[in-house]
Amino acid sequence: MTTFQPLVFSGVQPTGNLHLGNYLGAIRKFVALQDNNDCIYCVVDLHAITAQLVHDDLRNQIRSIAAAFIASGIDPVKHIVFNQSAVPQHAELAWIFNCVARIGWMNRMTQFKDKAGKDRENASLGLLAYPSLMAADILVYRATHVPVGDDQKQHLELARDIAQKFNIDFQQKIRETGTGVDMVVGEEPIHGYFPLVEPLIEGPAPRVMSLKDGTKKMSKSDPSDLSRINLMDDADTILKKIRKAKTDPDSLPSEVEGLKGRPEAENLVGIYAALADRTKDDVLQEFGGQQFSAFKPALADLAVHVLSPITEEMRRLMGDTTHIDAILRDGGERARARAEKVMAEVFDIIGFLR
Ligand code: TYM
Repeated sequence: MTTFQPLVFSGVQPTGNLHLGNYLGAIRKFVALQDNNDCIYCVVDLHAITAQLVHDDLRNQIRSIAAAFIASGIDPVKHIVFNQSAVPQHAELAWIFNCVARIGWMNRMTQFKDKAGKDRENASLGLLAYPSLMAADILVYRATHVPVGDDQKQHLELARDIAQKFNIDFQQKIRETGTGVDMVVGEEPIHGYFPLVEPLIEGPAPRVMSLKDGTKKMSKSDPSDLSRINLMDDADTILKKIRKAKTDPDSLPSEVEGLKGRPEAENLVGIYAALADRTKDDVLQEFGGQQFSAFKPALADLAVHVLSPITEEMRRLMGDTTHIDAILRDGGERARARAEKVMAEVFDIIGFLR
């Protein structure tokens, strides 16, 4: 039985500053996965224009995400690092997926509802179709595993729905062209062209929360810069932000159970655990009974210790962008070669002439 080669794909938008949530929820997982997998990591610039069309310095934003990948330890020679717009097949497959997906599926996306807000009629069509492009990003390589934070879960379920509908609608053509693969979904053996992607969400920090409100996700778009730690923040800024982070008046509990109903405490302990590669229980065994006045400086020191080498390397890479540009160009070429093969088969399955 032929089956899909495991392939990891993920993407990050070049909008605003990368923050600790992006790092712990996504980029650190990208780094860990590269030891045993073939990986493709993409700066998704086409997605960046869905919510806001005009950006001041999009080129440098794109470069800075690539710089963050490299500075965090991603190897762009063994793996592929590139920007989405360099591979036109993403947009081409997204169009086909726009015709596979149903409007009702898109309307149910919570991220669309959040981003479009009350004035839905005035949101761009691109924002509504965003998850279809995201499915295309992954499936144009027939990638099988996608490391992301918790907030992308619904989009990945939609990517599975799109793949499944394509496989079913074109099952006859897929057999005729001999391009399909046998796979087992649940218990059921099926023959299809696109894999049903596996989200890789688990990890120590699938959802890092705002430093100002433990019930809200840490986000690039939060108007308060104090709500997040940016990868480009210097040590003093990190110290200040952690000092000012919202907490409650109680001391830290000795067990995870005691964090229930204390979202800010839970978030800070979670961040500490993720940065230190330890469990929350382990962290609480050390800090249980202590006040935040003692815990916060320890957390700030740890954050600076982990992030400052990355920040420094990002600054160095951004100082002379020729190296980053060469990495993106080379990655784009290698990605395009792979995507072209898949699109030729997709055209064959659908019955387009080229
Ligand atoms: P983006 O650019 O918003 O975020 C990049 C990655 O960071 C994760 N993340 C978080 N993780 C934990 N806690 C947080 N507070 C937090 N905030 C963000 C996100 O889950 C994501 O993994 N739609 C995607 C980009 C994308 C993509 C793809 C991802 C486009 N095509 C294909 C995977 C596969 C996005 O907007 O991520």
